[in-house]
Amino acid sequence: MQVPSFNIVEKLNSVNFGYFRRMEIVVSGIRSTGCLHLGNYFGAVQNFLKMQEDPAYHCYFFIADYHSLTTHPKPEDFKKNTRDVLIDYLGCGLDPEKAVVFAQSDVPEIPELYLILNMLAYKGELERVASFKDKVRKQEENVNAGLLTYPVLMAADILIHRAHKVPVGKDQVQHLEMARNFGNRFNHLYNAEVFPEPYPFNFTGAPITVPGLDGTGKMGKSDGNGIYLRDGADVIRKKVMKAVTDSGPTTPNSEMPDSIKNIFQLLTLVGDKATVDQYTEAYNNCTIRYGDLKKQLAEDIVRFTAPIKARIEDIIKDTDYQQKVLRMGADKARASASATLSEVRRVMGIQ
Ligand code: TRP
Repeated sequence: MQVPSFNIVEKLNSVNFGYFRRMEIVVSGIRSTGCLHLGNYFGAVQNFLKMQEDPAYHCYFFIADYHSLTTHPKPEDFKKNTRDVLIDYLGCGLDPEKAVVFAQSDVPEIPELYLILNMLAYKGELERVASFKDKVRKQEENVNAGLLTYPVLMAADILIHRAHKVPVGKDQVQHLEMARNFGNRFNHLYNAEVFPEPYPFNFTGAPITVPGLDGTGKMGKSDGNGIYLRDGADVIRKKVMKAVTDSGPTTPNSEMPDSIKNIFQLLTLVGDKATVDQYTEAYNNCTIRYGDLKKQLAEDIVRFTAPIKARIEDIIKDTDYQQKVLRMGADKARASASATLSEVRRVMGIQ
């Protein structure tokens, strides 16, 4: 008589994927290099909130704290930075009962998959990544291998849960293409369908870039042009009033310069349509006063962020709750991650 074989991997997979069969897996994260700003909110978190409510999606939202190590944070800052992003996530409304909310450093299966994927990632393709070239320009004294293989770690974050959709801003689209490449290469090399192809996702259609207020490109934590969810009303007003403008339009219906477009784009995100229309008309007939436009934008941002900021202030005090959320998230994330990793090791002949 044959002993029935009990394959734990199959069991876990059938539990996971049996239950979530009709669901798509969603994974996304934000690096813990500071508190969240409006760019993070509109570029990423807003989509997280919608996706966690949608029964079609099983969501993993994490704090990418290993990714922050490229710039060598002090040990005493590492944990605080992780907590800051966690607190801001929860303040925005991420719900640990509806989505798996976890810290990357609590899931050791991720660095193991990263090691394996590194064997499938080529130096040439990594050197051509726009974010890498950008970092080389900005921090030439610290071009470490972690920076070069950043897209590989990001691919591991995504592939470890066999994600289908990744809600991210425009700047991450190239990284996702690499995640698809690494996953496909793995499937091909080991002749196994382990990884589905993950694609960027945004409810508004195309991925968006939220501009800064300094007339340059996107709002970024390291660019010093951010409005943070935790900023108080006065700080917000001060930052907005300093926004770069010009001397104003002199011919009707003229094209807006980037700095003005940026202000309108932010107003569109936080304000109502009638207000945006009113200022657009004023721009087009050359009666616009930028001082008024900025005041309007500042008040709309204050109104928009006030409830988030209030929740953040409550959660900051409740370290037990933070701990509980992280522990619960780590358990759920590890269950999914270890099922994938066992499958990976099995098809590679490691076990
Ligand atoms: N690279 C992303 C950023 O800078 C953060 C990130 C890391 C991420 N791993 C990820 C996003 C996995 C989505 C999925 O914003």
